[in-house]
Amino acid sequence: MSKINAAITCVHGVVPKKILSNKDLEKMVDTNDEWITTRTGIKERRIVEDGETLSDLGSEVVKSICKKRGISPLEIDMIIVGTVTADHRFPSTSNIVCDKSGATNAWGFDLSAACSGFIYTLVTGQQFVESGRYKKVIILGGDIMSSIVNYKDRNTCVIFGDGCAGVLLEPDKEGNGIIDSILKVDGSGRELLIQKHGGSAFPITKENVGHPDNFIFQEGRSVFKFAVTKMADVSAEIMERNNLTGEDVDWLVPHQANLRIIDATANRMGLTKDKVMINIEKYGNTTSGTIPLCLWEWEKKLKKGDNIVLAAFGGGFTWGSVYLKWAY
Ligand code: ACO
Repeated sequence: MSKINAAITCVHGVVPKKILSNKDLEKMVDTNDEWITTRTGIKERRIVEDGETLSDLGSEVVKSICKKRGISPLEIDMIIVGTVTADHRFPSTSNIVCDKSGATNAWGFDLSAACSGFIYTLVTGQQFVESGRYKKVIILGGDIMSSIVNYKDRNTCVIFGDGCAGVLLEPDKEGNGIIDSILKVDGSGRELLIQKHGGSAFPITKENVGHPDNFIFQEGRSVFKFAVTKMADVSAEIMERNNLTGEDVDWLVPHQANLRIIDATANRMGLTKDKVMINIEKYGNTTSGTIPLCLWEWEKKLKKGDNIVLAAFGGGFTWGSVYLKWAY
């Protein structure tokens, strides 16, 4: 019997309607469009309004995936959500998405790996499909970063946006699907990119409510140095061990944190810009959402058998790459 690979067989994304542009941010903090564009590549990002939640976006993604694939939500076995901005500490957002989307035969959980959330979650889902026991697993990557961003901190508020996208993983016996992955973690970098308060170490109390540590903190310059090296290293490593040259790779799908980090990774891999998915200008950094949002937007250009490398770096630190062959 030929080996079962876990393959992406459908993709969809949902972003909130409300746009927060660089011009809007100029009115909120001491920043300007020119600084944001040259340092990051971001022009605008989407922000939730009227109480819209991650599970609202996620359940829309699940319903659309089922519709596109022509299946009932009742056929879904599992839903795993990569996020650092779950609706609640508990129950899990996966749990709520199962209910709201009608995937009531599924089970699942949330997984926290900051901007590497989607690739960590994808590789986790891969294990369940490859075991042979689970046939339809939905992997969601999404974040409501506006819920943890301090809109008085120009170092972070210009970077992040909200959004959610996901993929359906199914068994493939034709040699397509996820071929290889490298996932890494280095907890010694945890203080450089962190939402310090709100967990059990530093619960939010009446004494610290409103403190900047209630929100996301990033030491941008130090994180940049790590990100630019690690994302490029891990992408080069996965190419090397799969005997891939820049010619062989059809697409790089990089985490959208900063255009300069993306360019450095593409250069290291020997890829021309036309092979790199970039939509950071429209959505900013949606944390776990960036990679599946790119796959969704590029879906029509992808061909069966395309060699695709996903690469991410995020808080923790967490980073990694995935090599897959597009299956449809
Ligand atoms: N507008 C204008 N000026 C600003 C702004 C702003 N929005 N933000 C910072 N500045 C100023 C700083 O105060 C600083 O001024 P100073 O020199 O007088 O001190 C100057 O601009 C340069 O600041 P840097 O932080 O050195 O700017 P840098 O070029 O490094 O860009 C950025 C900042 C975009 C955050 C970059 O460092 C970066 O992309 N870092 C990595 C991000 C990343 O990959 N994160 C991981 C994923 S995110 C996750 O996991 C949740």
